[in-house]
Amino acid sequence: MPAYGIKKYWDDRYDADGMGDEPFDWMCGWKQLSETVAPLIDDKNARILMIGCGNAPLSSDFWDAGYKNQINIDYSEVVIKQQKDRFPHMEWVVMDALNMTFEDGEFDYVFDKSLIDTMMCYEDGVETTEKLFLEMHRVLKPGGRLLQVSLHKEDEVDVFAASPGCSFIVTTCKLKNMKLYDDTPKQDLQNMALFHTFACFDKLDGLSEKDRDWVFSQHPLKLNGALSNQELAAMKVMIIEECSKSPRTRLWRDCTASNLVDCFDAVLEDWAKQFQPTEMSKLEEVGQGLQAIRKLDLAKGLEGFEEDQEEGSGGDDEGEEFVQVD
Ligand SMILES: C[S@@+](CC[C@H](N)C(=O)[O-])C[C@H]1O[C@@H](n2cnc3c(N)ncnc32)[C@H](O)[C@@H]1O
Repeated sequence: MPAYGIKKYWDDRYDADGMGDEPFDWMCGWKQLSETVAPLIDDKNARILMIGCGNAPLSSDFWDAGYKNQINIDYSEVVIKQQKDRFPHMEWVVMDALNMTFEDGEFDYVFDKSLIDTMMCYEDGVETTEKLFLEMHRVLKPGGRLLQVSLHKEDEVDVFAASPGCSFIVTTCKLKNMKLYDDTPKQDLQNMALFHTFACFDKLDGLSEKDRDWVFSQHPLKLNGALSNQELAAMKVMIIEECSKSPRTRLWRDCTASNLVDCFDAVLEDWAKQFQPTEMSKLEEVGQGLQAIRKLDLAKGLEGFEEDQEEGSGGDDEGEEFVQVD
């Protein structure tokens, strides 16, 4: 894995002579995020901190969407200089996210896309990420919001709500990895995450008891674009179909038969909770689900994949899905 936790890695990567100074959005950009993010920011003039901004088009897309009261920070002076040259009308500052020079409570929103993942790659990743959360919490106003997109799973992200010194309440969801549907060469599919985690943390410290209760009552938030278990299961089937087309393919580690069974169990559990026999839409949903399950005839094909894995051609790296394939 590249040395994501080392500053020199980022400076070299952003250097025009290095891996490239081409703008790059990790995981996803504004086009996908807008339906989830826009309803969570109720004031376009709100003060927003884009933390670990890199050269992601997201910052300028945010600006173009009307969120102009934003400041972008990154500890790589290389990328900040490039971004200043590209977008001189926007605010770009070289700053360490672990030791920010902002006053307490300066921001209504902090937006983090994948800085959390980078921090998890630092030596002492968990402790460093806790420090990051403490800093983000500090610079947020009471009732301020941290919006975050991560390659880590939901339960690996929401735990940071309880980082020492923090008073966050959090709702998370899965967002479809749209790169699965773009022009990515199909042989890469099996190495790509099916979903990314989106999290919305609300800061409680400093709120009156009444406001605190109100914020509490809003969670779990209804997040637009959240991937349902049913959609997740359909995506897994799609991946298996795609992978089975290629003559020599590794097992994609989430597509084992037992993993699919777990996934369908979760879908059926959802249905059991929601099903009202009188509701036509639910009946249709069950019909679609059954069709998806029939597709599991593909499970026969899985036997071949599993043999492949036993031969040692797959499943070699735990946590691989957290590594961005770019
Ligand atoms: C995975 S990239 C994400 C870039 C961008 N947010 C995106 O979504 O495309 C992580 C970024 O965090 C920056 N970074 C890493 N550690 C940092 C720190 N301590 N303070 C500020 N920026 C940091 C890196 O320079 C890099 O630009």
